[in-house]
Amino acid sequence: MELPQHIAIVMDGNGRWSKARAKPRHFGHKAGLESLKKIIEAAAKRGISYLTVFAFGMENWLRPSAEVNYLMNLFLTALRRDIGRLHENGIRVQFIGDRQQVHADLIQNMQEAESLTRDNSRMTLIVAFNYSGRWDIGQACQLLAEKVAANKLSAADINEECISQHLSTAAWPDPDLFIRTSGEQRLSNFLLWQLSYAELYFTNKHWPEFDEAELDKAIAFYASRERRFGKISEQLLIGAEHA
Ligand code: FPP
Repeated sequence: MELPQHIAIVMDGNGRWSKARAKPRHFGHKAGLESLKKIIEAAAKRGISYLTVFAFGMENWLRPSAEVNYLMNLFLTALRRDIGRLHENGIRVQFIGDRQQVHADLIQNMQEAESLTRDNSRMTLIVAFNYSGRWDIGQACQLLAEKVAANKLSAADINEECISQHLSTAAWPDPDLFIRTSGEQRLSNFLLWQLSYAELYFTNKHWPEFDEAELDKAIAFYASRERRFGKISEQLLIGAEHA
């Protein structure tokens, strides 16, 4: 079965999962963290090379401040408590997103996690934190404009490859499979450029219910898809015969 090299996940539905159990929203975020830990292990065990998760979007600052504070504390506690285990398991941890608005304590722990795990090669976990796809494209444009202004780059040389190389995800291949839980079928300003050719998988399961078996269903869905990248089926067959 063909395995996706890179999976990107919008971990949606923690709030609805709590509501269905007559519990406060933070109960769902705590359960969501447990789900995330299991899925990281499961993805690494299956040989996935890159796993990107949307942990906090730029728009999420608009939530009630008690929920934002809870999430910030949860991230900080999780980073301090769980980074050792990720490291022992050979996981490299990287963060993408705008660090400007993020609390100094959290930034420091993010940097420490990145440097502790930098030589791990079993799987790379990319945590999108204070991230927005439009922000990413915007910051790439700024970098390119600065290079043009400094005569380090000619405007005529700006092509797709060059833009990809200035996104916060420049170091990694684009996701092959996008998963969103909890029934919504939106990208919500996640990896807009990078998801151009990803297979899109949606499930009604809420994130705290998304387990190893659910991950396998998503991977099986991916394996059943024919990725044509703009070509037709017959061309793909010819390519395979000559491979
Ligand atoms: C979406 O559910 C979830 C979030 C906005 C936060 C994601 C956070 C976690 C899974 C916790 C652990 C993560 C890390 C990196 C420590 P929602 O609140 O939007 O649910 P709803 O749409 O049902 O309200």
